[in-house]
Amino acid sequence: MRPSATIATDARAKALAASGVDVVNLTAGEPDFDTMPAARSGGLEAIEAGFTRYTPVAGIPELRTAIAEKLLRDNGISCQPEQIVVSNGAKQSIYNALMVLVDPGDEVIMPSPCWVSYPEIVSLAGGVPVLVDTSSNGYRLSAEAVAAAVTSRTKVVMLNSPSNPVGTVATDAELRELAALCVARDLYVISDEIYEKLVYGSAEFVSIASLGEEIQRLTITVNGFSKAYAMTGWRMGYAAAEPQIVAAMTNLQSQCTSGASSISQRAALAALNGDQAPLESMRQQFDRRRQLVLQRLSAMPGVVIEAVPEGAFYIFPRVSDLYERMASGNRSSGSVGFADLLLEAARVAVVPGLPFGSDDHVRVSYASSLERLAEGMNRIESVVRSL
Ligand SMILES: Cc1ncc(COP(=O)(O)O)c(C=O)c1O
Repeated sequence: MRPSATIATDARAKALAASGVDVVNLTAGEPDFDTMPAARSGGLEAIEAGFTRYTPVAGIPELRTAIAEKLLRDNGISCQPEQIVVSNGAKQSIYNALMVLVDPGDEVIMPSPCWVSYPEIVSLAGGVPVLVDTSSNGYRLSAEAVAAAVTSRTKVVMLNSPSNPVGTVATDAELRELAALCVARDLYVISDEIYEKLVYGSAEFVSIASLGEEIQRLTITVNGFSKAYAMTGWRMGYAAAEPQIVAAMTNLQSQCTSGASSISQRAALAALNGDQAPLESMRQQFDRRRQLVLQRLSAMPGVVIEAVPEGAFYIFPRVSDLYERMASGNRSSGSVGFADLLLEAARVAVVPGLPFGSDDHVRVSYASSLERLAEGMNRIESVVRSL
């Protein structure tokens, strides 16, 4: 297996910063905000109360109930607490779901570009990642493109709206077409909804499992607390699915990691029950940052924004027009070389597009203050203009 490319670039930028270099790090896959007070208190209270022992593998009953209520309230998904399994982050939920669904040789359809971990986990499960190129469709996954990729071995379709790295948000109509296809072909859907709360402008978030009983039966809805509640380090994610899938995922988890941290579960429960106002304030700040990077990058010669991000906190500019002008020296070519150039010449860290499935792009995270983003944009612009 390859190490996670996003984590690797972030680590490189952090190491450089630790050595005293003033790096503007735009690789982050996490909000730069503090975990909201309600969640922090929930965690502290759990420690003080000695709530520090093993929990049931699938999660404490109060949290599973609160998640089922949240899914009904926010997403229009009706399910029982027994249909929820809490894990160490949405990443483990996706891992568990793919491990239990995918048999050797099974094909898993996913959009390209997509989050770096999907193809790697599918391969680890013995499956075959089938990447559907979305570049000709505005980086949107269409039912038509998925249908063209379906074979007798297709088992699962991976959805990720809002998407990492492009920031597209699937519309109700797009999801209805995908749902109809998956129901007709009896395909499971893993719907990674981790960026659900970060949606901007006129885009509206829709959960595919809310679109009917048939599609709900086939869908594993994955979500978590990392992005919405700025709780990346607490490692809290969950999946909602049919009872037999939840049972299999719970069995797998029981043999690997057991229940997630008792303290984090109490913090997550407090986050769900607490004042939700910090979420909206965070979303608005992300939106202002999005507009800043969008405007600045769009104005740079050779930098092309093909899809205006509508969600999450990333923008995925195409920079391939600049590649010919990069003096290569010992540097790699393509997006890796471009990211290296930015780090060396501008001390700005971005993630190459290659591990996401496109060597023509880089991923810029705007999970950083407006001041740091403006500084980063100034630095990138000076390098781009000098080419
Ligand atoms: C698309 C996507 N899904 C899942 C995750 C994992 O989140 P968690 O921290 O809950 O494991 C990430 C994290 O970057 C992500 O970008």
